[in-house]
Amino acid sequence: MGDSKKNMPAGRGDIANPFENQKTKKTAEQLQVLAAQGVEGFWGEMSKGISWFKEWDTVLDESQAASYHWTWFNGGKLNAAYNCLDRHVTGWRKNKAAIIFEGELGDSRVLTYQDLYREVNKLASALKKMGVKREDIVTIYLPMIPETVIAMLACARVGVPHSVVFGGFSAGGLKERINDSSSKILITADGGFRRGKPVPLKDNADLALENDGCPSIEKVIVVKRAGQPVYMEPGRDVWYADLMENADLYCEPEVMDAEDPLFILYSSGTTGKPKGILHTTGGYMVGVQSTFKYVFDCQEEDIYWCTADIGWITGHSYLVYGPLANGATSVLYEGGPDYPARDRLWKIIEKYRVSIFYTAPTLVRLLMRWGEEWPASCDLSSLRLLSSVGEPINPEAWLWFFKHIGGERCPLVDTWWQTETGMHLITPLPGDDWFRPGAATRAFPGVEVAVFNEQGEPVKPGEQGFLVITKPWPAMLRTLYNDPDRYLTTYWQQFEGVYLSGDGAMVDEDGLIWVTGRLDDVINVSGHRIGTAEIESALLEHGEVAEAAVIGKKHDLKGQAVCAFVTLRIGAQGSAELVTDLKQLVVNKIGALARPEDIIFISELPKTRSGKIMRRLLRDIAEGKVLGDTSTLMDPAVINAIKKSY
Ligand code: PRX
Repeated sequence: MGDSKKNMPAGRGDIANPFENQKTKKTAEQLQVLAAQGVEGFWGEMSKGISWFKEWDTVLDESQAASYHWTWFNGGKLNAAYNCLDRHVTGWRKNKAAIIFEGELGDSRVLTYQDLYREVNKLASALKKMGVKREDIVTIYLPMIPETVIAMLACARVGVPHSVVFGGFSAGGLKERINDSSSKILITADGGFRRGKPVPLKDNADLALENDGCPSIEKVIVVKRAGQPVYMEPGRDVWYADLMENADLYCEPEVMDAEDPLFILYSSGTTGKPKGILHTTGGYMVGVQSTFKYVFDCQEEDIYWCTADIGWITGHSYLVYGPLANGATSVLYEGGPDYPARDRLWKIIEKYRVSIFYTAPTLVRLLMRWGEEWPASCDLSSLRLLSSVGEPINPEAWLWFFKHIGGERCPLVDTWWQTETGMHLITPLPGDDWFRPGAATRAFPGVEVAVFNEQGEPVKPGEQGFLVITKPWPAMLRTLYNDPDRYLTTYWQQFEGVYLSGDGAMVDEDGLIWVTGRLDDVINVSGHRIGTAEIESALLEHGEVAEAAVIGKKHDLKGQAVCAFVTLRIGAQGSAELVTDLKQLVVNKIGALARPEDIIFISELPKTRSGKIMRRLLRDIAEGKVLGDTSTLMDPAVINAIKKSY
């Protein structure tokens, strides 16, 4: 394998898997054999990893495929929280650590499965007492603390979909997401710690809710974490601790249909409005339980750590539902990688003897820049598997991670997937014979992917194309909440009935997949997905801005950085103050994750004759590249003017 590498970039040779484990190798082979029997046979077998109250009737129902809807495990009944808790507390695992929490300030808490079970039951009964019903939605806006996991599982237990909003979103971002989902309940905190300082979540929530900004919200539950003084609105706001004090110790798990919604998670798309990606219970649980088990080869004694925030899909699938459904022990860390010093992550690995470490390339690049002396000063010998997610991992970062963190003894699996896919779709398996640094390699067994050209035909080796998924998979999104048409047009109609991921990719001579990044107007800043249109509409709210075009510019650490080209209204002048104001406006409207790195004032945006902004040209200018074809430009002189301003 791997000997015809004509098309592979130089220096990207294979790395032999240092993990001499015959059992894992055999498992990988068995999965491939099972997958050869077809999608239904494979996922039917995988569904045995889940405890069903009632067994399903069919694995995959394709009867509505003409309208791009597929359902999985029809007739099956289950509860996600039951799968994460109840089935573990009947045996010895009840005393096993489910979550090892490390606060940024150094405080730590261990919750066994029994502890987590008790807390989830209590919150679930309290929610029920509040009158929460299945048709409601609960918004969760919390830091990285155990209560976030408790809140999600409590919702799952009572059958109410949750909508977790990343704590880095501002009041504006929170408000938009609450209103789109018409949530009745908001669970937040007085703050969480980031770089030693509390993040004012409750203040943000108050801002979102003020002047009847979120009319659907009836109750706000506030967790005390940072000890910050906060305003409590009488009749609306209630402390989490007060609610839990007298709550019942047991709450019967709701019996859910496999296709009942489990959660909504908002993600950026190509328009200004975030997409409410809807996942259902049965297929999602089968997908995350099985991929967690096989991609991370998680064993009973492992200590697993995923650094992603729970507010993103990685946190949902591989910090909450996947690990807990497998009865695994996870580290949950609240804060940043350099507080109090740049060895914080390595100190945590050393302290808890972490064995499986799942993180993002942007973080790897940052740690790489800080130098190997930081990891070298800690004992990382407990590690046995590394994994990456969120953006393409450049071979240099891959090799550094493999060498300096994994000590050249840990397999490194690069997992490609999305909020929409719910679960890993493209990834090596830890039992593979070798890895190809920088490539996500191949589809997980039971998943079928391809790279298409514009005509919908598979590309030849070495050519770039659209990364598509050609067969349904169990954890696939079912729709976009409140936006069923957008679900059809965004994903299924470019190549009739084939899922369009929005990513570009190439296939090498061995048929292995190299994901190259987004092809649409979505940018990936430090592994966070942001729609350029969202930032543009925030900028346009400024009275002096006439037009705005946002692009993602290559950035050594973040992968991409936000770069905004702005034209001003007549009479307005570009100035350093205006740059500061515009950056702040974006932070207030969306959150710090979307803050533009550069704001460039120009007299006119480059547009095609049909009036479309030519972002590609702006990107090339920002990255200092030779400009491609400018012949469709309405006024080619614009380019020179822009180049001068840049
Ligand atoms: O562009 C791809 C990139 O992240 C996008 C999905 O973002 P999100 O829905 O926020 O989920 C992130 C975590 C799953 C994809 O369209 N992406 C994710 N993982 C990889 C990746 N790009 C390359 N390689 C990966 N392993």
